[in-house]
Amino acid sequence: MADDLYDQLRPATAEEWPGWLETMVGAFGETPTGPYLDTAPPTAELDRSLGLWDDGRLVATSGIYSRKLSVPGAVVPVAGVTWVTVAPTHRRRGVLSAMMRRQLTELHEQEREPVAALWASEAPIYGRFGYAPATTRAELTGPTHRLRLRPDVDLGTGRVDIVDEAAYRPAAAAVHEAVRRFVPGNLDRDERWWDRLLRDDPSERNGATARRYLLHTETDGTVTGYAAYRLTSRWTDTDQPDGTLVVEEVRATTTPAHAALWNVLLSIDLVSSVRLKRASPDDPIRHLVTDTRALTGPVLDALWVRLVDVGRALSARRYPARIDLVLDVRDPFCEWNDGRWHVWGHPSGAFCDRTDRDPDIALGIEELSAVYLGGTSLATLQAAGRVTEISPGAVTNASTAFGWPVTPWCPDDF
Ligand SMILES: CC(C)(COP(=O)(O)OP(=O)(O)OC[C@H]1O[C@@H](n2cnc3c(N)ncnc32)[C@H](O)[C@@H]1OP(=O)(O)O)[C@@H](O)C(=O)NCCC(=O)NCCS
Repeated sequence: MADDLYDQLRPATAEEWPGWLETMVGAFGETPTGPYLDTAPPTAELDRSLGLWDDGRLVATSGIYSRKLSVPGAVVPVAGVTWVTVAPTHRRRGVLSAMMRRQLTELHEQEREPVAALWASEAPIYGRFGYAPATTRAELTGPTHRLRLRPDVDLGTGRVDIVDEAAYRPAAAAVHEAVRRFVPGNLDRDERWWDRLLRDDPSERNGATARRYLLHTETDGTVTGYAAYRLTSRWTDTDQPDGTLVVEEVRATTTPAHAALWNVLLSIDLVSSVRLKRASPDDPIRHLVTDTRALTGPVLDALWVRLVDVGRALSARRYPARIDLVLDVRDPFCEWNDGRWHVWGHPSGAFCDRTDRDPDIALGIEELSAVYLGGTSLATLQAAGRVTEISPGAVTNASTAFGWPVTPWCPDDF
């Protein structure tokens, strides 16, 4: 049956978009809203979609966004897997498995993106297809009165202004473009993605204000940082201000600009708590404030990664310490990856190729995908019984080499 399904999958046409949207959004228990009910949004790549029609009815959807992913020391094309749904009438018959197999096979055969990535609605779904959480996100909140910047923080000599979206957008895009390549897990944002990011549908504000924007500008006029936030207004029964500052993003090209933006954010009146959405678990804000325990919250999986082609993917990234090891990779879902790979790399170059040398480490594709961005340690996976060391010391060596000084983080879901 799975083989039949594989061949029955096909891309949607532009005319099919309204029904596609209805089926896709419906599978998440929602009703389509917004400006793209009749025509697909500019970010959509219908030619990369795969759907299943049963007796003329659409019963499964999937898609791919062509994006660029920052990885340790480099940027690689990534297939951003999205729109994954199967109608309740057709679940647990292998439809998702067929879509996953077809996507990965085509990426491999056409030598397209060496890496695929996605955000998972539920954690148990994608491991069987070789995906693994490669970045985490912290959902942090803290009481405003405990969030004070350290007295020794350098706020620089620039200025912070409240600006409108028209001024914010090009300046923020330039700052983002300058910083994103240094943070594994970051994605590129072209005009279409900025459009989508800055869309601010009042029905999705959950009682908060419209999004507000800050820019940080140096004395010579260069914009070196941006922040986006919202406020929710609330008062207690005794008329005490009890609002929330919801910080959506703070990025800067310099340390003082970053601190200066936070200085303004933490000076906003009439709020009793601050919430950071989808923050890096290693966000410098924790080290900028005097009370390092003030911001708390869960750390959850964020971007999941799957190496489509082990050789191309491992050659593309850089390694902070020298590595010269043979990995025995098990990949039953994409057998072209199965077997031994020689990884040789250092901070400014790498290659990875087939070998028949004896392996130093044995591991599955899930484990290799988990460590690809440098955020998960091979030694931790070994402690969980998921990585086998064959040559003594190999896991320590590989854990160091696969690590990276900057914690991977993906603020953009799709
Ligand atoms: C998740 C979803 C796409 C699965 O589709 P499906 O066609 O039923 O999946 P398959 O039949 O190919 O299942 C393959 C395997 O994954 C397992 N699986 C599928 N969905 C799962 C889930 N939500 N939790 C745990 N296991 C799941 C199946 O049990 C099956 O296991 P098996 O091979 O051991 O029998 C479908 O349930 C769905 O549309 N859910 C709502 C929308 C959603 O969450 N989409 C994902 C967005 S990231």
